[in-house]
Amino acid sequence: MPVPLFASSLAAHMPRIVDRLAEVAASGRYILGPEVEAFERELAAYLGVSHVVGVGNGTDALAIGLRALGVEPGDEVVVPSFTFYATAEAVAAVGARPVFCDVDPESFCVTPETVEPAVGERTRAILPVHLFGNVAPVSALRHLGLPILEDAAQAAGATLDERRTGALGDAAALSFFPSKNLGALGDGGAIATSDAEVAERARLLRSHGSRDKLTYTEVGFNSRLDAIQAAALRVLLPELDGWNASRQRVAAAYAEGGLAEHVTLPTPTGGAEHVYHLYAARHPDPDALAARLAERGVEARGYYRVPVHRQPAMAPYLPPGGGPDLPGTEAAAAENLALPMGPELSDEQIAEVIAACASGSI
Ligand SMILES: Cc1ncc(COP(=O)(O)O)c(C=O)c1O
Repeated sequence: MPVPLFASSLAAHMPRIVDRLAEVAASGRYILGPEVEAFERELAAYLGVSHVVGVGNGTDALAIGLRALGVEPGDEVVVPSFTFYATAEAVAAVGARPVFCDVDPESFCVTPETVEPAVGERTRAILPVHLFGNVAPVSALRHLGLPILEDAAQAAGATLDERRTGALGDAAALSFFPSKNLGALGDGGAIATSDAEVAERARLLRSHGSRDKLTYTEVGFNSRLDAIQAAALRVLLPELDGWNASRQRVAAAYAEGGLAEHVTLPTPTGGAEHVYHLYAARHPDPDALAARLAERGVEARGYYRVPVHRQPAMAPYLPPGGGPDLPGTEAAAAENLALPMGPELSDEQIAEVIAACASGSI
């Protein structure tokens, strides 16, 4: 039985989306405008923040979020190396230096112990990533006294101590890339914050640094959410909690079905509700296991095998004498294996994944 890595589909919601898209098409308002403003209000209410600023994609949300928090060229920003490349790329894009810190190889997220050694005199912000749908312990980083921008691209709807990702730091970046837990029909992103000044600066920066299109006070971005994406997202946002609950049911079924006998199961951070953007298990020889699963039609994939601090483009940002020693990152990069996950994974498919891991592990 074939089991895809991503088991989710918008098919059931398409008629409603298409109706809304037709209305937007007829409205003549395609960029920002009332549809985007309504989505920004609805997402802010969902996250529990005062402001949401819709932008073109999650990478821009990170870059604009950093600038809005006051990060300037020459500043340092602490980022995990075990993440999608865009997290560090956004730091470099605003002229700052990414300083790579380690992660806990069990949670795949930063911890106070991994962040602290990377903090120095020039550190201007910390950029924890809620990787794979788990939640970085943001409140435990507060004692460092630095602005925190959450990279919440992979964890829409996840919570830590009952507060949603996006509302844990000083600001957060979200992505609506189609494969995300809350995906649009193309690129999209948002900055969430409860700080009115940060929100105002982000609004300015997303529109070329101008309020009135006459005077340009900043070198900004052209990065706005469009009304088509906002209309689709307004249909889909009310589905997010249900989808995440289904993902959690799949994770529980994997655990109850004995998957832990064959791979190490994902470990949610203490106090976190993991939303399993990816079901990243661990295995000592994950690529060999993935090859054996593929023979049975079960798709599995290792993520970020080359961590960001070892990517060629990041070489200029490493300290003289070479990159940092990040043992947790190296372990996470070498051992992770994403197994099929999604709100629509059936009981038969879950059983097939477990059976395939059982036969593949021998
Ligand atoms: C952790 C992380 N950060 C940032 C991004 C960037 O988002 P986008 O693709 O919308 O630019 C992504 C996803 O692609 C991501 O997974």
